[in-house]
Amino acid sequence: MRVLLAGATGAIGVPLLSALAGAGHEVVAVIRDPAKRRLVTDGGAVAVIADVLDRDALLRAVDGVSADVVMHQATALRNASRRLTPDDPTIALRGRGTANLLDAARVVGAHRFVTQSLITGYGYRDNGERLLTEEDEFGVHVGTVADLVTDSSVATERQVFAAEGIEGIALRYGMFYGKNAFSDMFADMMRKRAPVLPRGRTGTTSFVHVADAAAAAVAAMERGRPGEAYNIVDDEPMSWRDFLMTVARTHGTPRPVVTPRWLLRLAVPYLGCLLIDTTTRVSHAKATRELGWAPVHRSVPEGLKAR
Ligand SMILES: NC(=O)c1ccc[n+]([C@@H]2O[C@H](COP(=O)([O-])OP(=O)(O)OC[C@H]3O[C@@H](n4cnc5c(N)ncnc54)[C@H](OP(=O)(O)O)[C@@H]3O)[C@@H](O)[C@H]2O)c1
Repeated sequence: MRVLLAGATGAIGVPLLSALAGAGHEVVAVIRDPAKRRLVTDGGAVAVIADVLDRDALLRAVDGVSADVVMHQATALRNASRRLTPDDPTIALRGRGTANLLDAARVVGAHRFVTQSLITGYGYRDNGERLLTEEDEFGVHVGTVADLVTDSSVATERQVFAAEGIEGIALRYGMFYGKNAFSDMFADMMRKRAPVLPRGRTGTTSFVHVADAAAAAVAAMERGRPGEAYNIVDDEPMSWRDFLMTVARTHGTPRPVVTPRWLLRLAVPYLGCLLIDTTTRVSHAKATRELGWAPVHRSVPEGLKAR
């Protein structure tokens, strides 16, 4: 298939480019920084330059391109600000960005659209011991600023499911680790002795290696059922405390600096603190059953050992 991919230069985008090329698909990557052109052309893709949030520029950039599928993997969490506001770029990318990419899908003649959603949509709260499935309520509000993030995941899903003439599929990813993802990000922070771990208990969440997430995106594009969301996670949910300890061990960094919660709130972006107290264990049974996908790296220690 021919794929128009937004987010090709990111933590999931780079392994996704290789996975798509490996499966024989052709990629046209929408990138906003011309200096990154080589990153995608070396991966076998053609680059078009546009900011996904600039609808007119995006539609101009894809004029003359043809594609069967659009994949939305663009987020802007890397330089997240301390406070979360409705005009946060990641929130805008899931709302307005999805709408713009759906318009681009019509221009390029695509009939399928795979979008990036997140398991945090099950609610930034303690979701208990049970493995959640796609049957569980998605878009759960908890009365904090994190609801903006939840709403943005719902917004991208709803738009792609409702788009006329388009087969929309949403991937509810667990927390990414692997190259350039959370494990590398926290390893950097621990090397700098920045506070990362609150005193007391942390939440437990489902993770996924970025290479497995990329493989799932290819499987969803090829075999996903229109109008369906799939949880894309590994087999062993892990507490953030254990995650950070594992990252410190495998990356050879100092152990995480433990700090009172109020201090952590000053040190890390808005969502870090909310995320670290959230417990969301999720099942990938539906993805395995319908997409024929299962994580190669079944747990974080296994995935980080293989890095
Ligand atoms: N499920 C998860 O756990 C999850 C989900 C998302 C992100 N994350 C984590 O958060 C961290 C940052 O990830 P990230 O995905 O935000 O950054 P990232 O790895 O840099 O990837 C974001 C991608 O979106 C592109 N992009 C951003 N804004 C764009 C725009 N307006 N128009 C076109 N393209 C745009 C970026 O392009 P540029 O190269 O030009 O910046 C990049 O290709 C990583 O540690 C990642 O693992 C985790």
